[in-house]
Amino acid sequence: MASRGLPRALRCARVAAPRSVLSSALPRPALAKAAAAAVPRMTINQQPIRGLKQITFADSTETVYEREDWPREKLQEFFKNDTLALIGYGSQGHGQGLNLRDQGLNVIVGVRKDGASWKEAVQDGWVPGKNLFDVDTAVEKGTIVMNLLSDAAQSETWPALKPKITKGKTLYFSHGFSPVFKDLTKVDVPEDVDVILVAPKGSGRTVRTLFREGRGINSSIAVFQDVTGQAKEKAIAMGVAVGSGYLYETTFQKEVYSDLYGERGCLMGGIHGMFLAQYEVLRERGHSPSEAFNETVEEATQSLYPLIGANGMDWMYAACSTTARRGAIDWSSRFRDNLKPLFNELYDRVQDGTETQRSLDYNSQKDYREKYEKEMQEIRDLEIWRAGKAVRSLRPENQK
Ligand SMILES: NC(=O)c1ccc[n+]([C@@H]2O[C@H](COP(=O)([O-])OP(=O)(O)OC[C@H]3O[C@@H](n4cnc5c(N)ncnc54)[C@H](OP(=O)(O)O)[C@@H]3O)[C@@H](O)[C@H]2O)c1
Repeated sequence: MASRGLPRALRCARVAAPRSVLSSALPRPALAKAAAAAVPRMTINQQPIRGLKQITFADSTETVYEREDWPREKLQEFFKNDTLALIGYGSQGHGQGLNLRDQGLNVIVGVRKDGASWKEAVQDGWVPGKNLFDVDTAVEKGTIVMNLLSDAAQSETWPALKPKITKGKTLYFSHGFSPVFKDLTKVDVPEDVDVILVAPKGSGRTVRTLFREGRGINSSIAVFQDVTGQAKEKAIAMGVAVGSGYLYETTFQKEVYSDLYGERGCLMGGIHGMFLAQYEVLRERGHSPSEAFNETVEEATQSLYPLIGANGMDWMYAACSTTARRGAIDWSSRFRDNLKPLFNELYDRVQDGTETQRSLDYNSQKDYREKYEKEMQEIRDLEIWRAGKAVRSLRPENQK
């Protein structure tokens, strides 16, 4: 248990709380130590234009846009002649669509009639014939077409949608997937429209909850094609309108490479694989399911990872015992050296389109939902996650 050596006050502090809250829970010597350990690496040098910041990330300076520059009234003025046609109502469609509606913008939803998304849209208050239509009708009505279909469906529906995205319209994506890999997806964007991207760095559910909390999600923005000379401004305005707090500039290609790579790596696939490997070794060496789960997942997600999220890796190290620290520092380089070739192989497969092809092939199958459900059930049935269910049930909030 890495955090055994944590000062009691720090162990009890809500790790995800703002820094000031965390600090006030610390005794003085621990506070000084922790503060020294948590000096932020990011220096902020705010420029005079409100809402635009030059921020130094490690050694490079980047421009970050913020929503403070785009109050509701300004957004409404900017989009006063637009119909935002949001196509697809999955996780992103739901979050972005409801946020746009709450911003008072003219937004309509386009989904397959009587599919799962249509039903969900109706439940969320979209009205058939008023602001809920089938995909083709919505695209025809829209001046800004927000393609939030699944990436495989974007490819499948493109021959029907492309002729409706006529000169003067704007095409919007939340992933660079379709246009960047156009040789595979066949999504060749029309030459006479602006093509922009706003990619929230999180699930559409989080896009919605952060917006409702008065905060905002971080998003990437990019321009693929600028016909009007206003594409970038439109991307920034759309980014704020869908609920972003801060907008980071990138390209379509960099967005799709980093996103496919990250979700297969540390964000999802890699971390799941690492949990499984560690758990299985503990079980094979005679540890109980609860011990193996607590030492692999529970302590990570409930104690240590939130510390990294709040104030960085050094903060988390500083919060652990010297024994834990020594071992972690030593082993981190072993893991890095062993895993780096695998990460390079993954990046190559993203770059050469192998991962895109795999996703298109799998997700365009008629029964892809059923197949995923079967795989989710297999994950749910793994001993590690069954043990997790039992461990979570013991949390006070789940005891009622
Ligand atoms: N989810 C995330 O966390 C996330 C984050 C950032 C960016 N993105 C990007 O945002 C976009 C949307 O992703 P998502 O996760 O929100 O949605 P998704 O679950 O990938 O897609 C769901 C939508 O696609 C529709 N759809 C699927 N096959 C279709 C077909 N053949 N014809 C018409 N509609 C079809 C579904 O409608 P039915 O219900 O009728 O099947 C549903 O509305 C993608 O480009 C994705 O890469 C997602």
